[in-house]
Amino acid sequence: MSNSCVTQKETAPWLGLEAPRYTSYPTAHHFFPQTGENTLIPWLKGLPGDAAISVYVHIPFCRQLCWFCGCHTKMTNHYAPIARYVRVMLEEIALLKRYAGGKGRLANIHFGGGSPGLLEAQDMEAILSSLVSMFEMRPSGELAIELDPRTTTSENIERYAAWGFNRVSIGIQDFDPQVQQAINRVQPYPLVESRMLQLREAGISRINCDLIYGLPHQTPESFRATLEQTIALEPSRIALFSYAHLPQMKKHQRMIDAATLPSETAKLALYAMARALLEAAGYVTIGIDHFAKMDDPLSVAAQERVLKRNFQGYVTDTTDALIGIGSSAISQFPQGYAQNSANAQDYRKMIGDGQLPIVRGWKCSVEDRARKQVIDEIMCFMSVNLAEIRKRYGLDENYFQQEISDLQKLEYQEIAASDREHIQVITEHRMAARVVASVFDQYRGIAPGRYSKVA
Ligand SMILES: C[S@@+](CC[C@H](N)C(=O)[O-])C[C@H]1O[C@@H](n2cnc3c(N)ncnc32)[C@H](O)[C@@H]1O
Ligand code: SF4
Repeated sequence: MSNSCVTQKETAPWLGLEAPRYTSYPTAHHFFPQTGENTLIPWLKGLPGDAAISVYVHIPFCRQLCWFCGCHTKMTNHYAPIARYVRVMLEEIALLKRYAGGKGRLANIHFGGGSPGLLEAQDMEAILSSLVSMFEMRPSGELAIELDPRTTTSENIERYAAWGFNRVSIGIQDFDPQVQQAINRVQPYPLVESRMLQLREAGISRINCDLIYGLPHQTPESFRATLEQTIALEPSRIALFSYAHLPQMKKHQRMIDAATLPSETAKLALYAMARALLEAAGYVTIGIDHFAKMDDPLSVAAQERVLKRNFQGYVTDTTDALIGIGSSAISQFPQGYAQNSANAQDYRKMIGDGQLPIVRGWKCSVEDRARKQVIDEIMCFMSVNLAEIRKRYGLDENYFQQEISDLQKLEYQEIAASDREHIQVITEHRMAARVVASVFDQYRGIAPGRYSKVA
């Protein structure tokens, strides 16, 4: 371990603090519960004909549950529930088409989950062709999918390439056998290596890998080995997530013995080591938890200050609206957010009754938009100029005074430098940017949520 890791470990002022990851503002936890389809329908109808649209398709099924998983998914050994879910989803797309009426230009489609790799060919084709028919065009940008190496076959990979998929995210998490056992996800290195090779041979070269630090039994030595193996695979992007352990909310996380989790200081050292190794291997650090090759569009977007943050994390997506399809999926429009029911039965019933399955949402005020901009800039670029935001959103000159004085408090002074208008997260504390961002969150005090610890 380098000296800089030790220094950081001993001085991090935010250890143990909890804060949202700000993939939206307000956070989904604060969305208004009494929301129905009447929120989304006017937004769909009002789409300008030339609006660029992205679509997120959620497949909430997995063959086996990883004990760490914080995603909205459930286990199934059978295909019948997935086939039934797809039938409902196709009806949802038909409803969306009724309101959006061929408007908008389809830019990107992202299949996430869960394990969208479980979709059988005819179902994937049916979803893709109904989206193409909804927009009367094929996606012009990225067609991406999250793949679990254990359930992906070489035949599937060839089909993805033939359908035009051009970005894949692979869940690695950790290669150490003891860690894999403890998280109920055994996937040896040669399996991941062969899937990556097959993807590249099929012509899909944009590959992201997901890793998690803070998992049970992780040690500096074991995690270093995982990082070196991951670097050897040469993914274009690496997401290095901080393990969010919330067993009170995700019951299966109780299968993880809390005594085997690294301490907060040990976790911080794992992050610092990972960052040093990844930077030495030529990756650029992006936001709180992403790394990308220098020439990857994510690095370019960060450099040009056009990087965005949404429910998928850090993205280059600059489209006007994101339509979420599937249970629990969230649509993001300039006007606000609308979330589908996460309850499978309610999702099915509402669509069966001819309604869009929206149950929660938020209409953004001008203040919400200004605060979202501040939070996004802190999360993406580690800096923000408040005077510029006030000007852009027409806010008076005293707006943000409270936040500016809060940032003078000792606990923040160590994380962020602020000369009143300009706030800059101190580089070595960038993974704590969400603590700085939370100072600008107007809703946190009103209804505090349960968020994961920063380290
Ligand atoms: C939406 S999941 C789907 C990925 C895919 N099903 C797979 O596992 O290969 C995307 C990523 O979220 C991360 N993740 C899931 N639960 C997490 C948790 N509790 N804390 C931190 N990261 C988590 C994992 O790295 C995972 O690969
Ligand atoms: S991490 Fe991926 S494969 Fe594991 S349970 Fe979660 S969604 Fe499923």
